[in-house]
Amino acid sequence: MSARTVHIKSFGCQMNKLDTALVSAALQNAGFRLASSVKEADAVLINTCSVRAHAEQRVLSHLGHLKHIKKQRRDLVVGVIGCMAQRLGDELFDARTVDIVCGPAQIPQIPTLIKQALEEKKKLLSITEEIRQPLGDDQTQALEKFESVFDQAEKDIQGQAFVRAMRGCNNFCSYCVVPYVRGPEVSRPPAAIIDQIRQLAEAGVKQVTLLGQAVNKYKYAQRRKTCCLADLLEMASEVNGIEWIKFVTNYPTEKFYEQILKAMADLPKVCNYLHMPAQSGSDKILRAMNRHYTASQYLEMLDRARDIVPDIAISGDFIVGYPGETQEDFKATIELVKKARYKNCFIFKYSPRPGTNADKTLQDDVSQEVKRQRNTELLAVQKKISTELAQGLLGKTVKVLVEGLSKKPHLDPAEGDIGPQLVGRTASDWIVVFNGPPSLAWNFANVKITKTSPLTLFGRLRR
Ligand code: SAH
Ligand code: SF4
Ligand code: F3S
Repeated sequence: MSARTVHIKSFGCQMNKLDTALVSAALQNAGFRLASSVKEADAVLINTCSVRAHAEQRVLSHLGHLKHIKKQRRDLVVGVIGCMAQRLGDELFDARTVDIVCGPAQIPQIPTLIKQALEEKKKLLSITEEIRQPLGDDQTQALEKFESVFDQAEKDIQGQAFVRAMRGCNNFCSYCVVPYVRGPEVSRPPAAIIDQIRQLAEAGVKQVTLLGQAVNKYKYAQRRKTCCLADLLEMASEVNGIEWIKFVTNYPTEKFYEQILKAMADLPKVCNYLHMPAQSGSDKILRAMNRHYTASQYLEMLDRARDIVPDIAISGDFIVGYPGETQEDFKATIELVKKARYKNCFIFKYSPRPGTNADKTLQDDVSQEVKRQRNTELLAVQKKISTELAQGLLGKTVKVLVEGLSKKPHLDPAEGDIGPQLVGRTASDWIVVFNGPPSLAWNFANVKITKTSPLTLFGRLRR
């Protein structure tokens, strides 16, 4: 019998994408083939996100589409994995479309679950019962082993890779579902992380991005000394072959802050890029969100980052329309964004999440219309800043790690921009589009910036 095929689709954040990459590698190691569409697949996996209602609705509508396909192909196996699987558990079986429900801590079981579902045609549920309890040793070991499943699937490795530094989250921002779907915060052993980075480097990876919900809080107690993120960055810098190191996301806290900034300033491989969400510019709202800083403390932290790392690029996240957010609170957010001068920021409309403190204790009292207006207004403020910062790069030559062909054609052949259009990112995370040979994928290139837009730079390859 020819190999069974699996199609896998990711609907979430970078952590979710890392899980998808690990599951894909594990499936190949177990003898499955990956399919690029549902049509060619014996099984479909959807890796899901619960962070906003919209993320879940996208998954539910995709399941509706699969339900339709399953009418014709009754033996198609459908699996829902990731955060939504952990949040909803067996409720996902209700529509009869889903065969497997598997949480983020159970992903090492996926190849076995799919085999079972293909053979036995029964519903399979594997999630954590008590999500805020620490995992047992066996399960932690299984997850640790799973992180390096890439060893045997080198063919899939691209020039950049995510590496998990931490699992879970203990911050309990009032609005956020992540602590309830990803469990308690755990820092992985530094030796395991560095080994993994070494293996990735040997397979040709040039850039690693260390992941954690609050990665700057990374802390691993060892006999002689506690290892923090700055130490980890230093160790990662010593790995031959790795040229750029990034890390996301940062929670605004003083702890280890200067050490991390100094590591960024001193270690050439550590990219001068800091993603540090503020969420709001109003102290009242920050308190209600259970974020432990004020707007002025946050801005002072950005000043310090710019003192220690002069060419640092900073980005952020904001939630508009949080319960109780008045026009005055929103104005404070606008002021903060103006002062922060982010390279870019992600703006979200507040979405109540079941089980969170905000949902239990606060009324979602800002109307959709007002949320929409504030979203548009804040985007416009940021767009102006991004435009100015991008224009500051006009005429400069930047170093880009090329990712491959650009999905959308951006450049105008009438302006002499002919040939394949490539896309890549700079160390400070600017997206750059330029014409060049596809063979440059996952190599570094120097590009002279000739045109800018708020989110993308355009340029010419310098030989
Ligand atoms: N751990 C990261 C990211 C978490 S989710 C951090 O703390 O920065 C990514 C972003 O989604 C958050 O930064 C926040 O801006 C947004 N977000 C989280 N929960 C949300 C909710 N209930 N409604 C709207 N946006 C939300
Ligand atoms: Fe959610 Fe806050 Fe944890 Fe980020 S730090 S994942 S926003 S609880
Ligand atoms: Fe990521 Fe969404 Fe889960 S943001 S951690 S996939 S809830």
